[in-house]
Amino acid sequence: MTKPSRKGILLAGGHGTRFYPATRSISKQLLPVYDKPMLYYPLTTLMLAGIRDILIIIWEHERALFEKLLGNGEQWGIRIQYAAQEKPRGIAEAFIIGEEFIGKDSVCLILGDNILYGEGIPAIMQEACQQPEGATIFGYYVQDPKRYGVIHFNDQGQPVDIVEKPQNPLSNYAAIGLYFYDNRVIDMAKQLKPSARGELEITDVTRAYLDQQKLQVTKLGRGTAWLDTGTPPAWLEASNFIQILEHRQGLKIGCPEEIAWRMGYIDNSQLLTLARPLLKSGYGHYLQELLT
Ligand code: TTP
Repeated sequence: MTKPSRKGILLAGGHGTRFYPATRSISKQLLPVYDKPMLYYPLTTLMLAGIRDILIIIWEHERALFEKLLGNGEQWGIRIQYAAQEKPRGIAEAFIIGEEFIGKDSVCLILGDNILYGEGIPAIMQEACQQPEGATIFGYYVQDPKRYGVIHFNDQGQPVDIVEKPQNPLSNYAAIGLYFYDNRVIDMAKQLKPSARGELEITDVTRAYLDQQKLQVTKLGRGTAWLDTGTPPAWLEASNFIQILEHRQGLKIGCPEEIAWRMGYIDNSQLLTLARPLLKSGYGHYLQELLT
């Protein structure tokens, strides 16, 4: 029997109310984080995991903006499709909207406002992609876990519960916005009831896997940066973080053209073609110099 492949879903809808007024007329995910659009970061995280079939969930009225930026992904050797979410009914709705796209495969969901950076991330993700069944999520130690889904562990370090935005968190481990599920997630999402805030909660999906003892939680260590860019201060911190690293090393973070080239999805001449219209900003020069 052939192993199901792994599809990717990137969530780029949402209200973005914590970013008002900046996001009243445009998706947060299209705002730049330092030198590139916010969603380039989660998109390239999926690419680094080896995922090439990606569904981006958007507001219908923003479809043309996303298409202008990303097209069908062909230029980067990947396949991008779009599906509209009528209104933000919760992160877990992605699996219902994406049912046809997922088909019989397993899936990796990433939030459009999450940035993940650190040595070893591609390897960790590629390993999660190989998991034949069950779910994998990632725990990240944060100072203020109340704002997130919080993972509780027993004395043996096994996950025992996951609670969405608890008043009194029992752990500092937040579940980051990156989730790997097998194909059963579609049916699980369909069975969910909206929470008190009226959303289909991703935490409820993860808890269902936990109850069936099919959840793996991978803790990310100190050398990893997980940045959530959903508020102006967090967005500025993320922009500064990217700027500092890129300036120091002269290497770009979250650059889809470079990753497509390094993964062997595009060749040298395709890279040069992509570089040409981007010369004025310096981004194109960076791509050209990769070849020297
Ligand atoms: P949230 O941070 O939960 O929501 P939001 O982005 O709408 O922001 P705010 O709280 O300021 O109103 O969303 C996390 C990510 O998931 C973000 O990238 C938007 C996306 N999202 C959807 O695409 N659809 C949804 O139904 C929800 C809840 C979020």
